[in-house]
Amino acid sequence: MSEKPVKGIILAGGSGSRMYPTTQAISKQLIPIYDKPAIYYPLSTLMLGDIKDILIISTPRDLPMIKDLLGDGSQLGLNLDYAEQAQPNGIAEAFLIGETFIDGSPSCLILGDNFFYAYDFPKLLRTAVSNLNGATVFAYQVSNPSDFGIVEVDENFKAVSLEEKPELPKSRWAVTGLYLYDHRAVEFAKKLKPSARGELEITDLNRAYLQLDQLKAVALGRGTSWLDTGTPRNLLQTAQFVQIIEDRQGLKISCPEEVAWRRGFISKEQLTRLTDALPKSTYKTYLETLVRDGYLNY
Ligand code: TTP
Repeated sequence: MSEKPVKGIILAGGSGSRMYPTTQAISKQLIPIYDKPAIYYPLSTLMLGDIKDILIISTPRDLPMIKDLLGDGSQLGLNLDYAEQAQPNGIAEAFLIGETFIDGSPSCLILGDNFFYAYDFPKLLRTAVSNLNGATVFAYQVSNPSDFGIVEVDENFKAVSLEEKPELPKSRWAVTGLYLYDHRAVEFAKKLKPSARGELEITDLNRAYLQLDQLKAVALGRGTSWLDTGTPRNLLQTAQFVQIIEDRQGLKISCPEEVAWRRGFISKEQLTRLTDALPKSTYKTYLETLVRDGYLNY
C-alpha cells in the first residue's frame, strides 16, 4: 500500500495530426465520442480507480476550453488542477510539468485519447492502485503488435522487455495508455533524453523501472475493450461501440456525474442539484432517471 494517495494525470495535449483538419481548431479530447466529450472517458477511468486529485495537461490553446468544461471539479467531488504543455515534447514530459502537483506522491497517468471498458476493469484498476509498487503497465493483446509499444512478460507476468513498434514483436501484448508509478517517476523522468523523434518517451521511463526489475504488467483480458480514439476511423468505431452498449442497456459509459455518485464522491442530493442545473438534454434525462430509480450497478 502506498503511503500517500495516488494522484492522477490526464495528458490531453498532443498535435493530433492524425485527426487533421478537425484538430486545426480544437483538441481531439474535446470532440464528442457519441454523446459526451472524449475527455470524459479517461476522467471517468481515473475516478473509477478512486483517484480524486487530478492534473489535466493540455496545449495553451485547448486548456482554457477544458477548464470551461470541467471547472475545479468540486461538482464531482474532485480536485482538478491544470497545466500547459507548451509543445508536444512527449508523454513522459507530463512528469516534469506535473512535478509540483505530484509532490512526492505515486501517480497514475492516462492518455486523453484512451478508452477502457470492461465488467471487471474498475476493480482491477483499484487493486493495482492499492498494490502500487514500482511501475505498472496495463497490457492488451492486439492483432497488429508492430503498431504499438510491446511488453514481453514472463510466466508471472513480470515485464521482461519493452519495444517500441517492433518489426519482429516478442509478444502481442500492447502497452496501453494507462500507467501507474511510485513516487520516483519525476526523478526518473528528469534523467530522460529526447528520442530520435525529439520526444521524452514513456517507454524510456518504463524502461528505467524495467532495468530495476520493478515493472509489472497487468493483463487486460479478452473481455476488455481498449480503444485509442486518435484517428477518424477509431473515433467512429469507439462512438459506435458506446452507442451500441448504451442503447442496449440504458446505462451510460463514462458519465462522470454517475461515477462520482456511485463511488461516493458526491451525495444523491448533490447529484440532484447538479442535474437540475443542466440544460434540457438526453444527458439530463439520464441523470434524472438515475436519481429517481437508482439503476442497479452490477
Ligand atoms: P499521440 O496520439 O501519440 O499523439 P498526438 O495526440 O499528438 O496525435 P498524432 O499522432 O495524430 O499527431 O498522443 C497520445 C496522447 O497523448 C494524446 O491524448 C495526446 C497526448 N500527448 C500530449 O498531450 N503531449 C505529447 O507531447 C504527446 C506526444 C501526446
